[in-house]
Amino acid sequence: MYTCVCNAIRECELRQAARQHDGCAETVYAKLGKRPNCGHCLDEAEELIAEERAALPQPLEAA
Ligand code: FES
Repeated sequence: MYTCVCNAIRECELRQAARQHDGCAETVYAKLGKRPNCGHCLDEAEELIAEERAALPQPLEAA
């Protein structure tokens, strides 16, 4: 399922990136080589990122 239709970012890709990279949704998108277009996905993306990081055994270190 796509979280960001504009950039064709799948939920699984976003979750994986959230586990590897610090920062907000826009920062994580940038790590995927994307940037928000319409912005409709950002609230859901922030929720997925927070959910994924909350499940990490250790917090991400700031890059
Ligand atoms: S759906 Fe993500 S920027 Fe439009």
